[in-house]
Amino acid sequence: MTVPAASAPHVVVLVCERATTTAGDRMLLVGVVAEVTGVPRAEVVVSRRCARCGGDHGRPVLVRCGERGVEGIDLSLSRAGRSVAIAVSFAGPVGIDIESVAAASHAGLDDVAFGPPERERLASADGSPALRTAMWTAKEAVLKATGDGLRVDPRELEVSFVGPMRGSPPRPALAGWPGAPVPVGSFHLSALDVAPGLVGTIAVIAPARPDIRQLAPAAHQSAAP
Ligand SMILES: CC(C)(COP(=O)(O)OP(=O)(O)OC[C@H]1O[C@@H](n2cnc3c(N)ncnc32)[C@H](O)[C@@H]1OP(=O)(O)O)[C@@H](O)C(=O)NCCC(=O)NCCS
Repeated sequence: MTVPAASAPHVVVLVCERATTTAGDRMLLVGVVAEVTGVPRAEVVVSRRCARCGGDHGRPVLVRCGERGVEGIDLSLSRAGRSVAIAVSFAGPVGIDIESVAAASHAGLDDVAFGPPERERLASADGSPALRTAMWTAKEAVLKATGDGLRVDPRELEVSFVGPMRGSPPRPALAGWPGAPVPVGSFHLSALDVAPGLVGTIAVIAPARPDIRQLAPAAHQSAAP
């Protein structure tokens, strides 16, 4: 399926089986960029460069996208279990994070991750492991969208949820971050539909809430090594 650039949705998300190598995951990312822009894969180049030290790590960056150019396209990537999540944003800087509920259930996360208001919120949902993991992925997604990663203490951010705390995953929201580089209202968070046992959040920095369009994984599973 090819989505012409003119009708490209604001943010495209793919969650599928991860490749066996990080280079393979990067090829999946290249494939999604090619698909949603209509630019041939061979003309799409994704790199990564640490904003802090210039090293070969950090957020993925689109450095070439055929004649379309790279302007206005932001990327993010996350892995958990056997899955990889990829985001290609036409709306603004993006962060995506998926996490295994089991992996995030270790004792000790609460101390390094959540402040008192957040612990109260989780307690009101009977400490739901899925909700707790969702709160954590919301923080990581926001910190990936800014490019800070865990250089920022996640307890500086406060995450809340919009809607009922029980049942289907409520929508996460950034309730506060005193040191935020942009106004807190510019962060638009959405829960992702991921594999069983995983939860995920996408965060986009944009003037208005963007559309999030999730691609069907089937066409991408076997494309990468
Ligand atoms: C980014 C970070 C939150 C990753 O979280 P995680 O849950 O362990 O791993 P995930 O699978 O979800 O994400 C990994 C991906 O995040 C992306 N990423 C890494 N650093 C990032 C950053 N600062 N901002 C946005 N995205 C980043 C990369 O795409 C990475 O994939 P890659 O290893 O194939 O390049 C965490 O590793 C981190 O904060 N790293 C930065 C630490 C740092 O900056 N140290 C100083 C270096 S000089």
